[in-house]
Amino acid sequence: MFLVCYAYILLICLKNSHQENIKSHKIVTYWGQNAVYNELKSKEFWEKDLSEFCSYNYDTIILSFVNTFFDEMNKDKMPGMNFAFHCETPLSSDYKTLFRCKTIENGVKECQKRGKNVLISLGGAVGNVGFKNEAEAKLFAYRVYHLFLEGSELPLLRPFGSAVLNGIDLDIESGDYKYYSLFVQEIKRLEKTGSQSVFISAAPQCPYPDYLLGPSAEHLLGDVPNFIDEIYVQFYNNWCNTGNTVVFDDHMVKWLNYSRDNKGPKIYIGIPANIKASGNPQHYRTPQELAVIYSKYKEEPRFGGVMIWDASFDQNNLIAGKHYSKHISDMFNMQNNIQSLAQTTQNLVTISSSIAQDSDNSHTDV
Ligand SMILES: *[C@@H]1O[C@H](CO)[C@@H](O)[C@H](O)[C@H]1NC(C)=O
Repeated sequence: MFLVCYAYILLICLKNSHQENIKSHKIVTYWGQNAVYNELKSKEFWEKDLSEFCSYNYDTIILSFVNTFFDEMNKDKMPGMNFAFHCETPLSSDYKTLFRCKTIENGVKECQKRGKNVLISLGGAVGNVGFKNEAEAKLFAYRVYHLFLEGSELPLLRPFGSAVLNGIDLDIESGDYKYYSLFVQEIKRLEKTGSQSVFISAAPQCPYPDYLLGPSAEHLLGDVPNFIDEIYVQFYNNWCNTGNTVVFDDHMVKWLNYSRDNKGPKIYIGIPANIKASGNPQHYRTPQELAVIYSKYKEEPRFGGVMIWDASFDQNNLIAGKHYSKHISDMFNMQNNIQSLAQTTQNLVTISSSIAQDSDNSHTDV
């Protein structure tokens, strides 16, 4: 009897320790650009308010974008932003592209209450980004920290008021590559003046290394890999897209190797959330196709999960009554449950044979 209980407890422990592992695979999305508008003009399809997405199966929601680092449209060249139709209200006539977004502020607080990580993305496909010199990198870090994070020195200019975001995402697709390492180092220095940690992610294109973010010398991912928490590699709109299997696998392994060799950021597979969400329908993967890719990488210790572009396309991609993101989270659960069941069965076989042995041995004592 004692042996049976012991075996039973051991099984529960094994099962739970395995599930800890699985829980760490996450789903990340971008919200704020209403990208679906390119395909579906009618208002019924437009991206819902941020708060509506707090109930989706996302772990991280990235508000997009701060697309101009130093904007002539604003006094003191304060940052310029774009959240599509969600928020277009200038703070004042002095700040034409620095917005005040009460609805987003409420959405951020609601989603954070529900355990989601909410970031602000710097950059995007259309932007005016980059730094001319070290002073600009430091000034921009100061402004980002006080406009969006825990800093309290620009209280009247904060786009999301009292909402404190969890961190920043660097989606740098244009401009110069220089001084991003300094920018991130400065954010990390400012982090120490507050009580909350600042989460930092980057979204390179899939060709390795990314020509703006690296990893290579003087590029962000080469200089400060330990300061970056997660990388959302855009495996679409490029030859290394997930449909080009051999090239995709080769690049995925390069990113994973980079992370392993530098104890660097977790690597995410970035994909379109809908067949129309990237420039080429062949870069989209059905849930079944994604499951094949996932089964290949889920055991990699440096693999983090899946990033989808964007929330509006996910909202409009209902498959058998479930959003695309729900299929992804079901896939995480199903593949790992099957695996833990197999593992449990294996353990059960091992343990019951050792129980059989033990009880054979105990006969002599009775
Ligand atoms: C990844 O690292 C392994 C082990 O060091 C190495 O054998 C492999 O060639 C690397 N793959 C790529 C694509 O860089």
